[in-house]
Amino acid sequence: MTINLAENYGFCFGVKRAIEIAENTVGSSTYGPLIHNSKEINRLQKDFNVGLQEDINAFKKDDTVVIRTHGIEKQELKHLQDKDVNIIDATCPYVTKPQEIVEEMSDKGYDIVIFGDAEHPEIKGVKSYSKGRVFVVLNQDELENLNLKSKIAVVAQTTRKVENYLKLINYLIINYKEVRVFNTICNATFENQDAARDLAQKSDVMIVIGGKNSSNTKQLLSIAKEYCSDAYLIEGPEELQTQWFEGKNACGITAGASTPQWVILQIKDKIASY
Ligand code: F3S
Repeated sequence: MTINLAENYGFCFGVKRAIEIAENTVGSSTYGPLIHNSKEINRLQKDFNVGLQEDINAFKKDDTVVIRTHGIEKQELKHLQDKDVNIIDATCPYVTKPQEIVEEMSDKGYDIVIFGDAEHPEIKGVKSYSKGRVFVVLNQDELENLNLKSKIAVVAQTTRKVENYLKLINYLIINYKEVRVFNTICNATFENQDAARDLAQKSDVMIVIGGKNSSNTKQLLSIAKEYCSDAYLIEGPEELQTQWFEGKNACGITAGASTPQWVILQIKDKIASY
């Protein structure tokens, strides 16, 4: 059996940047997980004494907090600033961008539509920057139920599929007078997705590595499954099952944007040993 890695996979620019920032802030804590990968978070804790704090009220004056890649809500940031906590911002610039757009466009009187998952931390953060009406939708049905004004500004969660974003934009443009569309989907996501699609077509088993709560990893799995029915999502080598590879000729491997290279290599080596 051959084992092939996707042409693009794993850590994106925003995650590499956040990890570097955290490694340079020894003794700090992140508010919420820095990235969606528990193994990397444990490594930062062990090697760089970067802790994880989920309770915003636990931060005290002069503590150092690293803001995670997905960003936090505006009021939470204000809360930390008011407490005189040292704030090191590792929010990915591709997430800061929609936050700024939402703030500016809502200030100009636009209704804000966000295409994404209302429960995802990135979207909670982006939404919190609106100064007016803001709606989070996942599909056209949800959009049709809204009573929007004639001026609308739209942004998308960085990890969404562009095809689905276009469907919503299409609906809005047909039904409303003024629609300002911002392409806030991240290129890193596209590149990993395109490479996963290519590789899945050439593979008879696909292994997708990443956090089970990571939105971009789950999307890679869904793309892999479209072209290769035997596709599995795992976080570490211990989850591999030998029977997945029985009778297979080509195994493809891809990994989500928060998956460290050392985890990917461990998994690749274990598959090679079968
Ligand atoms: Fe940023 Fe894109 Fe990564 S939004 S965190 S570079 S997937």
